[in-house]
Amino acid sequence: MMTKLKNLSITLKTRPNGMIDSENFSKKISEVETLKENQVLIKVLYLSLDPYMRGRMSEAKSYADPLQIGEIITAESAGIVIESKSTKYSVGEYVCCRSGWQEYFISNDKDPMTYKIDPKLVPLSTYLGVCGMTGRTAYFGLMKEASPSKGETLVVSAASGAVGSIVGQIGKKIGLNVIGIAGSDEKCNYVVDELNFDGCVNYKSAFFRDELASKLDSGVDIYFESVGGLVTETVTEFFNSGSRSPICGYISNYNAKDITKVKTPFHIFGAMKNPPKHKFFLVFDHYANFNEANEFLIGGVRSGELKYKEMILEGLEKAPEYFKRLFTGSNFGKLIVKVADQ
Ligand SMILES: NC(=O)c1ccc[n+]([C@@H]2O[C@H](COP(=O)([O-])OP(=O)(O)OC[C@H]3O[C@@H](n4cnc5c(N)ncnc54)[C@H](OP(=O)(O)O)[C@@H]3O)[C@@H](O)[C@H]2O)c1
Repeated sequence: MMTKLKNLSITLKTRPNGMIDSENFSKKISEVETLKENQVLIKVLYLSLDPYMRGRMSEAKSYADPLQIGEIITAESAGIVIESKSTKYSVGEYVCCRSGWQEYFISNDKDPMTYKIDPKLVPLSTYLGVCGMTGRTAYFGLMKEASPSKGETLVVSAASGAVGSIVGQIGKKIGLNVIGIAGSDEKCNYVVDELNFDGCVNYKSAFFRDELASKLDSGVDIYFESVGGLVTETVTEFFNSGSRSPICGYISNYNAKDITKVKTPFHIFGAMKNPPKHKFFLVFDHYANFNEANEFLIGGVRSGELKYKEMILEGLEKAPEYFKRLFTGSNFGKLIVKVADQ
């Protein structure tokens, strides 16, 4: 009889009170269960770390239910099918799935969050970033939520990050004047020199407001919102009439002790006399059109037109420590954990 595989998973031990801490997580080892009909066993190779996971660790209601204490932390991953009791999936095929922070995942073959991917087209890890959820967020957030027109000025926050770096490059491709905002000179240089944005301003500079003003002679038509706080308050001064701001996220608020008491972009825009047209959107609002984005993103990576950066760190057990990087800015590029070799 074959010995059962051991599965390491990381679960929520306590809810963070402010910035997450390693103490908020528990490691658990369990045996991988025997497959039932129509199930597949997936070995996780790469795990995506994303800001939204912080929201799930809080008790506050959002568009998704909070995690319960003891539950495995939510995440998408890219992996390989190592056992199958399904006619839809064969051993050796690659998939993305909503595995959570663990080494092995059993998926039902009807789960819409499990789908095949092809590492011969683009590297496996990119299906978690530029060719995956964050790339699709950038594509739909700009193309469908912001109604861009050639010649307009687009300001992108978290500009060197997984979503922002792709938003800006798509903006350039469709003829926008693109100004990024990022948290270091190194990130700003990358955004301008490598990604070809028209400019980028470091919001940590003492002269942030003036440096931004110097790049916005013709004002802001679209502000792609990912951060909130000081950055958003500073941008409000420059909106043109008819401007739009798709609200993708507001990461500066995610570690607040009480998120119901913070000033979100909705409060900041709500206090303006002539606010931009703004609305929170979710990438899944565009689920029906995911193939359109996938074709665009995979095509762009294959042709070299879409550039991307990944920060791939090793070891699932260190995921809590790596996760903090999203909130300190010490990630540079899409944050991914390499969980196992193939
Ligand atoms: N609506 C959706 O469907 C959807 C989907 C995916 C992502 N999102 C949102 O998109 C945003 C970006 O996500 P991502 O995956 O692309 O992450 P990312 O940009 O790769 O990483 C997060 C970055 O946010 C910046 N940041 C952190 N704390 C900040 C603060 N207090 N003020 C200003 N900037 C701060 C840091 O960059 P700097 O070093 O430049 O500060 C950090 O590197 C998040 O708000 C996320 O929740 C939304």
